[in-house]
Amino acid sequence: MSILILYATTEGQTRKIARRAAAHLSAHGRSVELVPAAEIAQIEPRSYDGAILMASIHAGRYQPEFLSAVLRNAEALARMPNAFVSVSLSAASDDPEDHEAIAECVRKMQAETGWSPKQVEHVAGAFRFTQYDFLKSWAMRWIAARKNPDVDPRSDTEYTDWDALCRFLDGFVATSVKDRVPG
Ligand SMILES: Cc1cc2nc3c(=O)[nH]c(=O)nc-3n(C[C@H](O)[C@H](O)[C@H](O)COP(=O)(O)O)c2cc1C
Repeated sequence: MSILILYATTEGQTRKIARRAAAHLSAHGRSVELVPAAEIAQIEPRSYDGAILMASIHAGRYQPEFLSAVLRNAEALARMPNAFVSVSLSAASDDPEDHEAIAECVRKMQAETGWSPKQVEHVAGAFRFTQYDFLKSWAMRWIAARKNPDVDPRSDTEYTDWDALCRFLDGFVATSVKDRVPG
């Protein structure tokens, strides 16, 4: 049984999440291939038994290479067990308006690509001040000051709940991906 993890990242947190997910699934006997969305042309999505797609939100949108990879493979994805992991800082928020905003991002992605994920998991990302250029750093300091005043803008702050991620992955495997009987 093989699982494709297709991901897009801007500052690296979604890559870290994708790698942890691959390590967790591999440790539980699954065959996993980790592929950046920009390299989708090098694989055949139909050849996998299931797919987990991951991307992060920047100014209300997912990475363009992610959207085009999904658009081109929406039909193949629909035929297999699949899930979408949406990474954002709003996923770490207690404010229902933030949750509605990221739910809207998923709806927009569905409308743009034609892919309706069978499962959607909102995963909290990170402030990565060590990766930001001057403008991003300024913008993220402003957001942190409003929403997360305890955050230190001289270092990175990670909100990803790794145990929750593993529980989601276990649920995905249990409900969506049928075990193949060897032989
Ligand atoms: C310029 C910028 C814009 C962002 N916009 C949003 C946003 O609209 N909503 C949100 O919840 N998080 C937003 N974030 C937070 C990212 O989703 C979060 O940092 C995530 O961990 C990034 O993942 P990546 O490192 O894989 O790109 C933004 C981050 C940056 C740097």
